[in-house]
Amino acid sequence: RSTDGVLDVRLEAARGTHEIAGRRATTLGYNGGVPGPTLRVRAGDTVRVELVNSTDETTNLHVHGLHVSPEGTADNVFLAVEPGGSQQYEYTLPADHPAGTYWYHPHHHGTVADQLFGGLYGAIVVEEDDALPVTRERTLVIADITLDGAGAVAAPSAPERMMGREGELLLVNGQRRPRLRAAAGERERWRIVNACASRYLDLSLAGQSVRVIGRDGPRSTGMPSLDDAVLAPGNRLDLVVDMREGAGELVAAPVDRGGPMGRMMGGGTGAGGDDPVVVADLAVAAGPGADLGPVPPAAAPRDLRGAPVDGRRTLRFAMSMGGMMGGDGGRFTIDGRTFDPERVDRQVRLGTVEEWTIVNDSPMNHPFHLHVWPMQVLSTGGVEPPAPLWLDVVDVPAGQSVTVRVPFEDFGGRTVYHCHILDHEDLGMMGVVTAR
Ligand code: C2O
Ligand code: CU
Ligand code: CU
Repeated sequence: RSTDGVLDVRLEAARGTHEIAGRRATTLGYNGGVPGPTLRVRAGDTVRVELVNSTDETTNLHVHGLHVSPEGTADNVFLAVEPGGSQQYEYTLPADHPAGTYWYHPHHHGTVADQLFGGLYGAIVVEEDDALPVTRERTLVIADITLDGAGAVAAPSAPERMMGREGELLLVNGQRRPRLRAAAGERERWRIVNACASRYLDLSLAGQSVRVIGRDGPRSTGMPSLDDAVLAPGNRLDLVVDMREGAGELVAAPVDRGGPMGRMMGGGTGAGGDDPVVVADLAVAAGPGADLGPVPPAAAPRDLRGAPVDGRRTLRFAMSMGGMMGGDGGRFTIDGRTFDPERVDRQVRLGTVEEWTIVNDSPMNHPFHLHVWPMQVLSTGGVEPPAPLWLDVVDVPAGQSVTVRVPFEDFGGRTVYHCHILDHEDLGMMGVVTAR
């Protein structure tokens, strides 16, 4: 938590033992926990993070969704922190940085999925000046993991990497199926992070009064219902839950995100399987059952739909599954190329608005993520969202395209865009963008 506008925090990445699903598990974690500590800041704050690498592999730290500089020792994903080493990161959030739920995770190319799946992730909350009045706020970081017989994190097979690994266990704040307790008449705010390496989350909470008040960014108007919001890996959801007496379950329905052979028959793909999973139980005791009244209105989001556009570009996701069944074949590309940190794939002029169309020429969905600058979604498969929609990860369904507008403002520098199925990112589905 920041005081005097400065958050000073030390994050030590290390291997440790935890109890997961009643078993003794050895995972990675920050400061001995899975997830790592939730970082709470405000617009205008300076963040100083000392990342200490006590693991035996190279890592680094990315702040997903924050609108901060990608250069120097700020949110620079090209930095590498060697085993036994440390790195001081420092950046300042702009005074008008959107409030909302963000998160952090490693971004060392080639091992991002392994390290995140292994336990390295945590939430960041950018607090509002006028906090929403609620009885309680919960940050629910959802991730999945597979443990082997010895309690170590299981390594995925080659086909699982191609598909994007999905863990056998769904965890909320490091626990399988936790029981959340509340009393009728209470109002809670739930900040949900999809920290799964590859799994999409289609969540529902039957029997309760649930409103979506924000997605990747700030609280805003024009939000869909929970039934209409699917979280791609990396997305967040901000909910208000007005508690009604009784028992409830937070359930993740299977999501068909396609596969090397196209869409599966009858539902889910990957290890996630075809059955809904209970992510958490909710027990709501009798209570005053107060009339909570309306949620105070949020500001309308910025809308670039009518704005002049300085440049239009197309990006193309493609994959070939060469040796999918046999071994390490398969190529995951953007514009026909795999990631090369020395190459600049897109150069934009700082201070301009660009329109990007991301085309998915493959039989699987790929969630497109751009660092530093949020994207306004203009259309998905030709369908426009009913209200201005800002995301930092936007799903591009198999065989379809998505058009976004991006205001390249405030921060110049070099950073990346990539598929947020992190196995695909590690296999090269990432490009470099510079803004100058
Ligand atoms: Cu959440 Cu470049 O990532
Ligand atoms: Cu990111
Ligand atoms: Cu992908």
